[in-house]
Amino acid sequence: MTADDVTVEFARATAEDSLGALAEALVERARTTRGARAVMQELWGSALTATELADALEAERTAGHVWVARRGPEVVAAALVTRNCVRGIWVRPDLRRRHIGARLLGAILDDDDPPRDAWALPGDRATKSLYESVGWKARLLTMRGE
Ligand SMILES: CC(C)(COP(=O)(O)OP(=O)(O)OC[C@H]1O[C@@H](n2cnc3c(N)ncnc32)[C@H](O)[C@@H]1OP(=O)(O)O)[C@@H](O)C(=O)NCCC(=O)NCCS
Repeated sequence: MTADDVTVEFARATAEDSLGALAEALVERARTTRGARAVMQELWGSALTATELADALEAERTAGHVWVARRGPEVVAAALVTRNCVRGIWVRPDLRRRHIGARLLGAILDDDDPPRDAWALPGDRATKSLYESVGWKARLLTMRGE
């Protein structure tokens, strides 16, 4: 199956869209992946609990910063875009490698005043490769003593 086998639409998230799966993925990332807590700190001032994260994502959605890919009413992929930077992008695990991420990124890049930067965490080859697939190159890596 490819992304073209199912009807997926790409748009800014609205109040009808559940961002629960995205929030769960972020919480899991924060627990398991180096750099993910730093992402939250950069975005929202501190590492957040699951409840705080749900509220923060809701505020980002209201501000028009969350993009989603929908299959019917279901959100199958999402991205957070603020200040011309894709801060994170996520595709439901069982639907990966079907160009849904690429098509979501394409919709975001087709928007007025599109992002020119994106974040990727250390070791996240899939995310780096997604951006490389549209010709972007790594230009900044931040280092920190723990
Ligand atoms: C990164 C991610 C969004 C990619 O979504 P996707 O729909 O699977 O990617 P696509 O199928 O659109 O891939 C487009 C291109 O990116 C590259 N790519 C994507 N995943 C890759 C992987 N695992 N390995 C190598 N290259 C990859 C390939 O060039 C691919 O093109 P190809 O399949 O024709 O070779 C997805 O892997 C993901 O959600 N990862 C987890 C990220 C995460 O945890 N986010 C939560 C915090 S924000």
